[in-house]
Amino acid sequence: AHFHTVRVAQPNGKWYNTELLRNLVDIWDLRGSGLTNMHGATGDIVFLGTTTPQLEEIFWELTHDLEIDLGGSGSNLRTPATCLGMSRCEYACYDTQELCYNLTQEYQDELHRPAFPYKFKFKFDGCPNGCVAAIARSDLSFIGTWRDEIKVDQEAVAAYVGGEIAPNAGAHAGRDWGAFDIQKEVVDLCPSKCISYDGKLTIDNKECVRCMHCINTMPRALKVGDERGCSILCGAKAPILDGPQMGSLLVPFMEVNKDDDYQSIKDLIENVWDWWMEEGKNRERIGETMKRLGMAALIDAAGVPVDAHQVQEPRHNPYIFWKAEDVEGGWERDINDFRKRHQR
Ligand code: HEM
Ligand code: SF4
Ligand code: SF4
Repeated sequence: AHFHTVRVAQPNGKWYNTELLRNLVDIWDLRGSGLTNMHGATGDIVFLGTTTPQLEEIFWELTHDLEIDLGGSGSNLRTPATCLGMSRCEYACYDTQELCYNLTQEYQDELHRPAFPYKFKFKFDGCPNGCVAAIARSDLSFIGTWRDEIKVDQEAVAAYVGGEIAPNAGAHAGRDWGAFDIQKEVVDLCPSKCISYDGKLTIDNKECVRCMHCINTMPRALKVGDERGCSILCGAKAPILDGPQMGSLLVPFMEVNKDDDYQSIKDLIENVWDWWMEEGKNRERIGETMKRLGMAALIDAAGVPVDAHQVQEPRHNPYIFWKAEDVEGGWERDINDFRKRHQR
């Protein structure tokens, strides 16, 4: 029996107008089961159930009439997904939709012609709130961040404390939670304990891990900093073989620069792909290759500087292996010179 499922690329940031929605379901009413999944976990629109003779027709109508592409599937780049970012959200530290669109166009071949060991996903979150869960569900996650200080408006802080502005932008306001308690609801919940309040709010920004909690709670008083860019993490995946895995930090901070067509981001992506296509086993996600060969091998291949932020935990392997190029003079040595300093 035929029962094909069709993946359709979602509009960037999942912005629809009703015309597009109607046109999509019209195609599917006519040519498929009418059942859709808006959206599949990966972000795609999923059309469930049609027969083989309809496939070319559906493809033609989607791409020519609606200008919507098929989504990625198989061992290739999957449909990239992005939060709605700067189109609506003041937290966005870079233009997620623009970067997602640019990379989608740039990597059309990788999206439609499977050449990888396994699937590969990009996801773009404009800030660490992670509305598309990039850190958990993409092989390369681009998460907006800032490297200067959180901007504090002390008057607005006082207005929150005095009950003039509703905390959490008024979310959960349907119930009486009592008066806003800045100590309990903000200061004590900062995961790195770097906020204090004594009539004035102080943040020790060096210790801040950009969790967004204080900003989410008092958005009119606290704003993300001005020096914005993204952190890039690698290797997240769902449970199939080795169990689930979150992304590991590969680049703590990278500018997201439209003016040079995102060249530094593309260089990084291509370095990482080259390495994975060379080293990865068939059906091995890059996160598994990374674990098998070590984070150091990935960092090396990516061509990014080594940084203390990449260290997740103290090492548990007692051996240190040096490469000839890491050692001054390589492996060549003058035995007589050596014996001068190390007598038998
Ligand atoms: C016959 C159809 C499908 C098969 C056999 C299949 C198979 C798989 C497998 C084996 C995994 C786990 C891989 C891993 O992450 O290590 C997975 C994950 C996933 N699949 Fe599918 N899939 C199918 C259809 C779909 C569809 C239609 C969508 C959405 C449009 C989808 C979205 C996802 C997502 C979001 C994940 C989680 C990936 C992650 O978090 O890393 N899949 N799928
Ligand atoms: S991830 Fe951050 S920037 Fe993007 S929509 Fe969510 S809160 Fe806004
Ligand atoms: S963003 Fe998080 S870690 Fe940073 S100061 Fe606010 S609550 Fe603390």
